[in-house]
Amino acid sequence: MDLHILDHRLRVTSIAKNGLVNFTHPLIKLIFLRNRTRCKFFSLTETPENYTVVLDEEGFKELQPSEHLQVESSIWLPLNVVSNGNASSSSQAVGVTKIAKSVIAPLAQQHVSVFMLSTYQTDFILVKKDLSVVISTLEEEEFNIYKEVGGEFVPVHCQDVSNDFQKNGKEATQPTVHPVLIPKNQFCVMSLDPDTLPSIATTLIDVLFYSSSLKEDPSSSQDLDCIKFFSFSLIDGYISLVMDTEAQRLFPADLLFTSSSGELWRMVRIGGQPLGFDECGIVAQISHPLADSDISAYYISTFSFDHALVPEEDIVSVTDMLQHQRKEPAT
Ligand code: ARG
Repeated sequence: MDLHILDHRLRVTSIAKNGLVNFTHPLIKLIFLRNRTRCKFFSLTETPENYTVVLDEEGFKELQPSEHLQVESSIWLPLNVVSNGNASSSSQAVGVTKIAKSVIAPLAQQHVSVFMLSTYQTDFILVKKDLSVVISTLEEEEFNIYKEVGGEFVPVHCQDVSNDFQKNGKEATQPTVHPVLIPKNQFCVMSLDPDTLPSIATTLIDVLFYSSSLKEDPSSSQDLDCIKFFSFSLIDGYISLVMDTEAQRLFPADLLFTSSSGELWRMVRIGGQPLGFDECGIVAQISHPLADSDISAYYISTFSFDHALVPEEDIVSVTDMLQHQRKEPAT
């Protein structure tokens, strides 16, 4: 398997709900006017707490400093696993499940904090800029590692990167088990041809910037039976959307597409208090048991919390699994 270190230097930011009005101009440019920015990696996710914006430095320049904008201090680099068509895996699972044991678990074991961003097309694993531990850990997992340099992928080895680090032993630090929330909405993970983006522009603007006024009863968005969650990303020319079935109904049915099976997903939101950016093993703790049961999952980290999406039909077994984990925390 190949692992690509993509040539994007990313910032993880959040815009306060009441500060969104200060950012509509740059966000419209980043979403709809691709030719006017050099931003190649853009993702915007609305949650009940805030808007998480993950974007490259070109895009970040568009966001003016403001009391409403929180910026995580690190530069994050996206990793991406590319399977070179080997049929050795019998798993049909998609998303983070595919990389749970080969990438997520080994990085967690080496205390590498990640930030996950699954999209319709692929799963990005964001790591903080120091790559030496990442490269040596994943080389041990038998990945061929390539770094994107000016559009070309060149092989890298751990001796190529400054490696004044100590390999961490496998000491048994008990991972924190965070509380989870399982909202009732059903989600879909979709894509769209970027050329048809203008056709859904008004709906997208409505959903992104005016969603609070879509509801007759504004207090209902607070109600945690259903959760507000909408994600749009435009990364290297590919669009991915995650929305609940209620939002989906607002879009023209013929433009957005999803995988042929057209499955619906349920969400597990991880975290009671904001999770921060230094703790490792949160993604691993959720994705490892899913991989054991071969249950597909998309995984989206946001500024405050993590979100796993699992097939609707598996939500009962996932709930059981999480309850079990809470009784006897995983090793
Ligand atoms: N750093 C966590 C991990 O390595 C995942 C991200 C949690 N933090 C967040 N702000 N969503 O598992």
